[in-house]
Amino acid sequence: MFNEEITCRSCDTLLSIPFEDELNIYSCPDCNIEIKTQIKNKHPRAEFSLHTNKILCIDFGTSSIRASVRDNDGIPIPLEIGEAFNSSIDKASIPSAIFISASGDEVLFGEDALSQGLKGKESHLFEISPKKWIVSNQLEEFIFGKAGLTKSHLLSGLLNQALNGLCKCLGLTIFELKNYEIRVSHPVWNDKNKAEVMLNFEKIISDSFLIGNDSGEVISKHSLFSKINGHLSTTSYSSVDVIEPIAAALELFNNSQNSREFCVIIDVGAGTTDMASFISLTPDVHRIKRKLIRISEPISIYKAGDLIDNEVINLIKNKCKSIDKASLKLLSIRRRQIKELLFKDSRIFEVNVEVKLSELNESEEIKKMCSDIKQGFEALIEQSSAQILPFVTASNHRVDQVKVIFSGGGSKIKFLRDVIGKSVLISGKRLPISIIDSVSPYRSLPASYDRLAVALGGTTPDDDWPVTEYKTAPITGHRAYFL
Ligand SMILES: Nc1ncnc2c1ncn2[C@@H]1O[C@H](COP(=O)(O)OP(=O)(O)OP(=O)(O)O)[C@@H](O)[C@H]1O
Ligand SMILES: [Mg+2]
Repeated sequence: MFNEEITCRSCDTLLSIPFEDELNIYSCPDCNIEIKTQIKNKHPRAEFSLHTNKILCIDFGTSSIRASVRDNDGIPIPLEIGEAFNSSIDKASIPSAIFISASGDEVLFGEDALSQGLKGKESHLFEISPKKWIVSNQLEEFIFGKAGLTKSHLLSGLLNQALNGLCKCLGLTIFELKNYEIRVSHPVWNDKNKAEVMLNFEKIISDSFLIGNDSGEVISKHSLFSKINGHLSTTSYSSVDVIEPIAAALELFNNSQNSREFCVIIDVGAGTTDMASFISLTPDVHRIKRKLIRISEPISIYKAGDLIDNEVINLIKNKCKSIDKASLKLLSIRRRQIKELLFKDSRIFEVNVEVKLSELNESEEIKKMCSDIKQGFEALIEQSSAQILPFVTASNHRVDQVKVIFSGGGSKIKFLRDVIGKSVLISGKRLPISIIDSVSPYRSLPASYDRLAVALGGTTPDDDWPVTEYKTAPITGHRAYFL
């Protein structure tokens, strides 16, 4: 029997827990959260050492998955997991799509799932944003009838494909990933059932290791279920909790000007718009580029690209006098692609109707989304005000603006930038907003820097992870390097 020291996910109490062959269930003495423990052959948690300098971060996005690795040398490197599976998005991204054939004999993930689904092939399930199941409490829903495969299992299958992508890029087996600390990013969970959602998320991660390496076999509903079922998972831990906007900020706030700045990151993804605020300092220390201090609780607003997709389809539907069921289904399947085309060309033609980007901007749903995001932003500023006020009123090195960086696939959306771009009030003082475009320090990247930021920043070592205590400001390492 061996005891393991872990930190309770819910209340941060340090617990010493025995891991044994049998499944054991413990309760945290402080918050009573249930913790399941068991050693299983090849179980990631039982065998994973946290005392490693090798860190892997998987950015488990609603629309796609990206990953980066950082070794002892301190440089984060994006992994070409998209290339490994011929992804249609880019070299670094696996689509987060899941497709199950009508018979259930074929369960596909990533690019294979997306391409089958977009063809409109008959299916039992086709989902392009399965991550939403986590917060909408659907994880234990069965896919076929009243037993067998659940939505939680499917998410593990999808994540397993990302692990296989990592393995291909690193030339390792899944078992050999034990030499890395594995981190998986997530948004700020809704307050309701936060601890439970986190445990479910960790179970998905643990289960993803049980499926093993890609052997080239066709995965069916039975084979996927039998791989996961019967292996009880422990929770999977990493030393830091990778919350998406914090990871993105660690990567993107990399300027080297000798100044104190008030920075806000806004990550616009497919499922969520995530925000966090920081004070950024540039200390005069050799090889250290800046310090980043978190000054508010990060927030996630569950409105982003997916909502825009639906609104584009609504606009088409409202304009089209008669549309048959099959055409509507195909439109809905292609909604993300149609929306991206609308942003690219400012107009689209579908089922004989034209929709302009200006019409989307004017829609009530989009206005409501913008207003919710603006409200979240103002709440974040309000929460940061006590920490930032002394610098706003200082006579030297005064903070006189809010520097905002947008990240994520939706980082360039004009109506969101416009709504954030207006000045804010901090204890009666009005500060202008300065929206800064992120500048990549890398010569070449396999995907846009905006979309890789979470995966890259998520590999930041523990010691550099931002803290809220101003006195113990963390150091964020030098980033002036090129791949
Ligand atoms: N040029 C563009 N204009 C507008 N939206 C875009 C553009 N390119 C991509 N998107 C949208 O950005 C979103 C994907 O962004 P990203 O990859 O950052 O999200 P994600 O990480 O998968 O989701 P989340 O972080 O919410 O879980 C999708 O909704 C996609 O359609
Ligand atoms: Mg994201």
